[in-house]
Amino acid sequence: MVDTVEFTDIRIADETIDDVVAVLEGGRFVKGPVLERFEDEFAAECGVEHAVGVSSGTAALLLALQAAGVGEGDEVFVPGHTFFASASPVLELGATPVFVDVDPLTYTMDAEALEAAVESADSPAAVVPVHIYGGMAEMDGIREVADGHDLFVLEDACQAHFAARGDDTAGAAGDAGAFSFYPSKNMTVGGDGGMATTDDPELARRMRMLRNHGRDDEGTHRRVGLNYRMDETNAAVGLRQLARIRDWNAARSDAAQRYTERLSDVGAVTTPFVPEASDHVFHLYVIQAPDRDALRTRLERDGIGTGIHYATPAHRHPAIEARVDAPRLPETERLCDRILSLPMHPRITDEEIDHVCESIAAYYG
Ligand SMILES: Cc1ncc(COP(=O)(O)O)c(C=O)c1O
Repeated sequence: MVDTVEFTDIRIADETIDDVVAVLEGGRFVKGPVLERFEDEFAAECGVEHAVGVSSGTAALLLALQAAGVGEGDEVFVPGHTFFASASPVLELGATPVFVDVDPLTYTMDAEALEAAVESADSPAAVVPVHIYGGMAEMDGIREVADGHDLFVLEDACQAHFAARGDDTAGAAGDAGAFSFYPSKNMTVGGDGGMATTDDPELARRMRMLRNHGRDDEGTHRRVGLNYRMDETNAAVGLRQLARIRDWNAARSDAAQRYTERLSDVGAVTTPFVPEASDHVFHLYVIQAPDRDALRTRLERDGIGTGIHYATPAHRHPAIEARVDAPRLPETERLCDRILSLPMHPRITDEEIDHVCESIAAYYG
């Protein structure tokens, strides 16, 4: 079976196990030096001043918005074509997500649609561009809108570790960034985990406080915060992953190139668009395919696992529809019936890719 993603892509090397055991033997499980080192090295790799390790990508999104002061009455702009967790932290803070349509080529937030949504909003406060599938949103256009309306820009880089576009790097192109280390992501910490990034020392200080019960360095609880810390064992795994992420991203990119070449003759299928001068890190390789569900069944019969990211747009989930008036987003809704995620991970072989492409070509005859 050729799987869509590989949760253990990663094969835990001996050196990683040694590091985890060292943490366990040392007995310092939280708030220790390993997390500090992981944060410093992640910040350097990302090109930001501060990185704050937390318990998940969702926590990173939540804490960044909370630290920026987003709360009740605020409107936060989120693309419709994304995972639920790009929007749920907004609701959790009592603010309102306003859903914006995506660009039909890159599937990321459309800056013109953002401008239109902001202009008809009552109290616009923040925007969350999502670097979906590992390809960066067009940040120049989004920053221009944000600058014009004084919006806080939080990049959802949960699928885009070290993606780049033009002069921008994911997580360093807004006021703050949020990364996920969920085990299917391009890098993990061996469990759930996340990282919030920023150049702003005050924002970083507030996020550190909010991840730890709202406590300041003297032990006084200045804000009501919960516990969103990252454990030392996870940070130890993260450090080893960080040393290899660039190689894994390159392997994903090579695999994507082979898919695109092999599928170029299958006219029915639309392969991913990669803008010029960009590093797409292919967390997922997603095609658009007519008769998607029938194709999926055929691939399954040929031993090929596929996924749909996402069958329901963020704003159409009952938990969100119950709280906000969801607009019609034609591009987002059109994509949902056509997208298909093909197997993608750093160790996928040329033979596996060719098998998938042959099966797709055979289906369309
Ligand atoms: C786009 C996006 N945003 C947010 C998240 C939430 O990250 P986590 O699962 O680590 O909470 C994910 C991943 O699951 C994601 O893909």
